[in-house]
Amino acid sequence: MDDLRQKYLDAVAGATDESALEDIRVQAMGKQGEVALKMRELGKMTPDERQTAGPALNKLKDEITSAIAAKKSALADAALDERLRHEWLDVTLPGRPRPQGTIHPVSQVTDEVGAIFADMGFAVAEGPQIESDWFNFDALNIPPEHPTRTEMDTFYMHRDPGDDRPPHVLRTHTSPVQIRAMAKHGAPLRVIAPGRVYRADYDQTHTPMFHQIEGLALDRDLSMANLKWVLEEFFSAFFGTGVRTRLRASHFPFTEPSAEVDIQCSWEGGMVKVGEGDDWLEVLGSGMVHPKVLSAAGVDPDQWQGFAFGMGIDRLAMLKYGIPDLRAFFDSDLRWLRHYGFPALDVPTLHGGVNR
Ligand code: PHE
Repeated sequence: MDDLRQKYLDAVAGATDESALEDIRVQAMGKQGEVALKMRELGKMTPDERQTAGPALNKLKDEITSAIAAKKSALADAALDERLRHEWLDVTLPGRPRPQGTIHPVSQVTDEVGAIFADMGFAVAEGPQIESDWFNFDALNIPPEHPTRTEMDTFYMHRDPGDDRPPHVLRTHTSPVQIRAMAKHGAPLRVIAPGRVYRADYDQTHTPMFHQIEGLALDRDLSMANLKWVLEEFFSAFFGTGVRTRLRASHFPFTEPSAEVDIQCSWEGGMVKVGEGDDWLEVLGSGMVHPKVLSAAGVDPDQWQGFAFGMGIDRLAMLKYGIPDLRAFFDSDLRWLRHYGFPALDVPTLHGGVNR
C-alpha cells in the first residue's frame, strides 16, 4: 500500500495539466483502477484483516483524491497567473481623447436668421450654386451688356470649343433664387434663400466664396414700409436689442425703387456696437421687385408687388460675434473653429439670450 501511495503521489506531483491528472485518477480509482481492485480484495479477507486494510485503503483513496484536487487548483492558479502576465490591462491609463467639433459661425447665424424669418412667415427656398446666366442675370433685368456683369467679377464655367450650351456661372448672389421661387410657387409668397455665392475678389472683407441670404415677399399691396418694418424686426431680434435702420436711395437692376439699408451703430476704440450711437453701417441691398423681374418669373406685375433684399451672412456673423477677419472663416484652422465655433449642444438661441 505504501508503494501504491508513493507511485500515485509522485504521478500527481509530476502531472503538468488537468487531463494528466484525470488519467491518474482513472488509473488509481476508476472501476478497473488499482485502488478499486484492492478494495474488491477486501471481500476475500478475514474480518480481522479487513478491519485494518479497509480504513487504510479508504485513507489511501482520500489521500490520492485530495492530492489530485490540490494539484488541480495549483495548476489553475498557475494558468491564471500566466494569463494575468499576458492579458493585463492598465485601468489607470487616461481615456483616449475624442475630438469634438463645433458649429461654424456661418451655420449658426444661418440658423438664427432662418428662425427669425420663420416667425414672420417666411419659408426657406433654395437654388443651385452653378446657375445659368439667365437666372443669375437676364431674368433679374441684367442684360448681357450691363456693367453689373463685370462689376460682380463673375466666375464663368468652362466651355469646350463647339459646346454651345448657354453660359453657366457660379451664382454671384442669391437673387436668382427669387426667380426660381416665384416661378415655382407664384404669388403671394414669402421666402428667404440662404446660400453660397461666388465673386473673384479677395481681401480682408472679401473672399471668392461667401454667404448671402435673400428675402422676397409678394402680395397685392406690399410697400417699402413693410420692408422697413420687417428689417427692423429682424435686426432687433438678431442683435437682441432695438436696432434702427436707415434707407438710402440706391440702384439695382432688379428693384425699383432700390435702397441700401444701414443699421444704427457706435464706434468705440475700433469696436463696432450695433443698436446704439449715431453712426450707420451699411448691411444690405433692397427694393421693390422690378415689374420686369416679376414678368420674367411668370408673376403678373399688374396683380402683385413686393419687396426683396439681400445681405451677407458672414458679415452678420462678424458683427454679432465680434469676428475681425472674413478670410479666416474659410481657412479651416482648427484653433479658429474652436474659438469662434459653437458647442453643438449649447448654441445661442433666440429665447436663450444673445450673450455667450
Ligand atoms: N443681389 C444684391 C447683391 O448681391 C442684393 C439685393 C438683393 C438687392 C435683393 C436688392 C434686392 O448685392
